[in-house]
Amino acid sequence: MLYYLTAKENCSTTDKPFLLTTAANMQKKSSIVDITATVTATNPISSDVTVITLHCPEIAERAIPGNFVNIKVNDSTQPLLRRPFSIHRVQGETIAIMAKSIGRGTAILCNSLPGSTMQVLGPLGNGFTPPDSSFATALLVSGGIGTAPMFFLEKTLAASGKNVIHIIGGRSSGDLLLHNLSNCRTATDDGSTGFLGTAVDLLRHDLPELRQNGPLKVFSCGPNAMLRALAKFCREQNIPCEVSLESVMGCGIGICYGCSIEVNAPDGGTETILLCREGAVINAERLVL
Ligand SMILES: Cc1cc2nc3c(=O)[nH]c(=O)nc-3n(C[C@H](O)[C@H](O)[C@H](O)COP(=O)(O)OP(=O)(O)OC[C@H]3O[C@@H](n4cnc5c(N)ncnc54)[C@H](O)[C@@H]3O)c2cc1C
Ligand code: FES
Repeated sequence: MLYYLTAKENCSTTDKPFLLTTAANMQKKSSIVDITATVTATNPISSDVTVITLHCPEIAERAIPGNFVNIKVNDSTQPLLRRPFSIHRVQGETIAIMAKSIGRGTAILCNSLPGSTMQVLGPLGNGFTPPDSSFATALLVSGGIGTAPMFFLEKTLAASGKNVIHIIGGRSSGDLLLHNLSNCRTATDDGSTGFLGTAVDLLRHDLPELRQNGPLKVFSCGPNAMLRALAKFCREQNIPCEVSLESVMGCGIGICYGCSIEVNAPDGGTETILLCREGAVINAERLVL
C-alpha cells in the first residue's frame, strides 16, 4: 500500500541505489509516503536497543539525515498511535531505525521478526541543514538513544568532504551507542569509560584543539537537558549548532497539534511551532533556555 500524502515540493530523486551520502541528497525535498514495510532484519546492539531494518524503497530514496518515520507497530489498537523514530541508516531500498525499548510500542518493535510488516509513514520532518562551506569540521554531539540519527548524518557529511567527529555521552559505558560510528570521543557521568563528565564538558575540554581544524558546526540529538546545555555553550562560543528535539507526537504531519513546542522568535519573543513539520531539527538559537 502506498499513499502520497503531500507533494508540496518536487522530489529530486537520484539513480543512486545504495547509501545516500552526498550533500545533494541532504538537499532533497521529500514527499511523504505511507507504506506497508517488511522487516528484513533485526539486530540487538545492547540489552534494550535494537536496529530494525525495513524494506521501504519510497522512503529510502527520499530520506535525508534528521528525518524520522512514524510507525504503526502492529495491526491492533494497542498501541493505538504511531511511534516516531529517527532514520538511522539508508541502504539501497531499506531504512533502519535504532529503537530503545521503553514501553509497549518500542517493545513490539524491538521484538519484531524478519518477515513481519508494519505501516511506516515518512520521511518526516525537515532534517539537518545540508553541509556548506561555512564549516570544515562537523561535531556530532549525542547522548543516549539520540545517537540513532548520527550514522546517516556521519556518512552524508563525510561524503561531502567534512571532517566528522562524534562526541557521545551517557551515564555509564553501557549507555553509549557507538554502533558502526567512526571517530568517536566518549564521556560518561561515572567515568567508566572516556572522559569523566557530560558530552558538553568533553566538548568544552577539547574545543581549543578542535578549533585548530578550521570552522566548526555542531549537530546534536539527545536528552533535553543535554541539548539545552549544548545550545547555551555554543551560543557563548559562537559555534553554529542544530539540535534535533523530541516531543510527544501523534500524526507526524501537522494535523493533531500534539507536538507543539515554544521556541524563540526573531522579534525577541517566543512562538509556537509544530515540531513534526518545522523540526524535529531546529537552530539551537531558537531553543528556549
Ligand atoms: C522525532 C522523534 C524521533 C525519535 N527517534 C527515536 C529513535 O530513533 N529511537 C528511539 O528509540 N526512540 C526515538 N524517539 C522516541 C520514541 O518515539 C519513543 O520512545 C516511543 O514513542 C515510545 O513508545 P512506547 O510505546 O514504547 O512507550 P510508551 O508506552 O508510549 O511510553 C513509555 C514511557 O516512556 C515515556 N516516553 C514516551 N515517549 C518518550 C520520549 N520520546 N522520551 C522520553 N520518554 C518517553 C512515556 O511517558 C512513558 O512513561 C523519537 C521521538 C521523536 C519525537
Ligand atoms: S504530531 Fe500531529 S501536529 Fe505534529
